Amino acid sequence: MSIVYYENEKIFHLQGKDVSYICKVDQYDHLIHVYYGKKIRHINTKGMETTKPITWSLMPVEEDENYALDTALLEYATYGHVDHRTPALHIEQANGSTIMDLTYESHHQYKGKKELEGLPATYANEEEAETLDIILSDTVSGVQVVLSYTVFNKLNVITRSVQIINKGEAAVKILSAQSCCVDFEHANYDMMHLSGAWARERHVVRRKVVPGVQSIGSTRGASSHVHNPFLALLTPDATEETGQVYGFNFVYSGNFCGHVSVQEHDRTRVLMGIHPFNFSWQLEVKETFQTPEVVMVYSGEGLGGMSREYHRLYRKNLMRGVWKEKERPVLINSWEAAYFDFTRKSIEALAEKASEIGVELCVLDDGWFSKRDDDRSSLGDWIANNDKLEGGLDILAKNINKMDMAFGLWFEPEMVSPDSELYRKHPDWCLYVEGREHVLTRHQLTLDFSRKEVCDYIRESVSSILSSAPITYVKWDMNRYMSNVSSKGRSPKQQMETPHRYMLGLYYVLEELVKRHPEVLFEGCAGGGGRFDPGMLYYMPQIWTSDDTDAIERLKIQYGTSMVYPIMAMGSHVSSVPNHQLERVTPLETRAHVAMSGNLGYELDITQYSEDEMDTLRQQIAFYKANRQLIQFGDFYRLKSPFEDNSAAWMFVSTDQTEAIVFYMNILGIPNPMDQHVKLSGLHEAYDYAIEGMEGIFGGDQLMYGGLTLPVLKDFESVCYTLNRVKPLS
Ligand code: DGJ
Repeated sequence: MSIVYYENEKIFHLQGKDVSYICKVDQYDHLIHVYYGKKIRHINTKGMETTKPITWSLMPVEEDENYALDTALLEYATYGHVDHRTPALHIEQANGSTIMDLTYESHHQYKGKKELEGLPATYANEEEAETLDIILSDTVSGVQVVLSYTVFNKLNVITRSVQIINKGEAAVKILSAQSCCVDFEHANYDMMHLSGAWARERHVVRRKVVPGVQSIGSTRGASSHVHNPFLALLTPDATEETGQVYGFNFVYSGNFCGHVSVQEHDRTRVLMGIHPFNFSWQLEVKETFQTPEVVMVYSGEGLGGMSREYHRLYRKNLMRGVWKEKERPVLINSWEAAYFDFTRKSIEALAEKASEIGVELCVLDDGWFSKRDDDRSSLGDWIANNDKLEGGLDILAKNINKMDMAFGLWFEPEMVSPDSELYRKHPDWCLYVEGREHVLTRHQLTLDFSRKEVCDYIRESVSSILSSAPITYVKWDMNRYMSNVSSKGRSPKQQMETPHRYMLGLYYVLEELVKRHPEVLFEGCAGGGGRFDPGMLYYMPQIWTSDDTDAIERLKIQYGTSMVYPIMAMGSHVSSVPNHQLERVTPLETRAHVAMSGNLGYELDITQYSEDEMDTLRQQIAFYKANRQLIQFGDFYRLKSPFEDNSAAWMFVSTDQTEAIVFYMNILGIPNPMDQHVKLSGLHEAYDYAIEGMEGIFGGDQLMYGGLTLPVLKDFESVCYTLNRVKPLS
């Protein structure tokens, strides 16, 4: 049993593989957090009370001076009654008051996990997980809250989400409804998050937790390049392999907030949910509001342990469809090869060359539709430009199929160009405010996906193109943040619902398309990695990691991304030199090593390549295919951080520990260098391994505790080692 309820003490104990999460209903029916951490068998709460008053405490029960809640660890905090910390729930009621006091009403538990209506979420069958719903209510307003906790039996994962139900007699307005609230007893933690900007997404940031609020978030209408919807609390001693880590990842692709606050007695609160800024939700009588989900991972084995847990969960219980368990194809993408400058013949020439070296999928990027010869027009008009394509998509796709390659296409369905038929016909279908100037970015506007008619139109446009030709891959791009956030489809008092309604509309379209076109591999993209989040992974099992294709910049981007997201989710391409973003020149081998540490693709004009260069690419692809199962489905270990070192190293290990592959990438060469060593991870200490290109055999214990000697490398050079278990002679 993963969830045990001790009726006498009213204690709930959730147990995953190595984790316990415990809360209880106290003598005044408040839901108090008791414990979250390494698995324990059972709990005696004596000595663990957190409801004793301290000086200046508010006393919610007049006749009990020994009871206060302002330093208590609360499971779902509200505002204004007993606690001065930032609340998880903030609701304006008919009388204007926002005060609430949630008390326990009932609970029920069941095997498996329910779906979250209209939202992406992890899923599980009855053997994999158990769920506990705790129902709390505010007797004055009639607002009911259902806190859902799912514990995965064989993982260290607990997911949380919340439903707010208006059981009162008047409409209320939700001002903030966070998906999780976890109070920690002390503040002796570091906070880690993944932050950056366009072309340098998800850089690892680690800092000490201090009194006050420290938060990450997005109010841009997308989870964003700037902060990923992820944060972790780490014990200060935590490393890749050791120490305790509490990860929080939001299964959502829009505005979010990750909030860590430390109050005056060092209690630390973590909140994660839809960003309360510019958010409100009108909840009529009997209506329900469903928050998105937060995936919490506990690791007693450092950051590496946390990452591998997220990877396993997302590969098995978040990604869906036929591509979830299939090896991802090696692709060639036309963008950096040709940008807008192509014809059907030139794409076929690129594909022809690609097929000779073993590429499996040819992706036609931006520029194939309507009058789109640059980025100034045509978004919204999803009609193939048959002149440019000299006959159309169907002919192109079929010709590419004849080369034994699949065909894929780029779309940017959430946008409209002012210079488009769609905009001329429906100028009110974009996000805009009457009387205010449009704000353009890349000459485009955001379509109002909070409106069903817009969603349905786009769903049909994309679907009809997908049905018009053998297209088995879609790159779903999104190239601007929201501005003038307002919808013609709603009343003035509902305008602050627009960003969330937009996300619900987007998820609705994606759900319809993935169901209608189950054979299609969808790859998410948002100006590179501006929406690399679990919400997107639910529909699109891979995401273009960054527009930055420079191999050295990619070290940090991919290292950071791997903290949470599986390797098989990362689109990663070899591009030309000088690199188009940085003008840096790196060896082709290093570009390949970095790109094959994800889903390998090529994005360069190989029609200009010599026979020798083509041979090199052919060998890279053959090598990748031979190791693809291990890279895409194996366990991932980070060995050297490019944030701390002048190099990066990581490795992949098969689940039976018989095979491994190590990549080591140098940044700058240094004069008069010493040999470098790297300690490997994840091997079996009692197994012996042969390393290709090296003489003799190496014990797993030696490689992990003594290390592997690495060659001295010059600027931007890299090496790769494959390890295979050598069975002892019996
Ligand atoms: C931004 C993407 O990230 C690029 O890879 C490319 O698809 C362009 N958009 C096309 O406009």
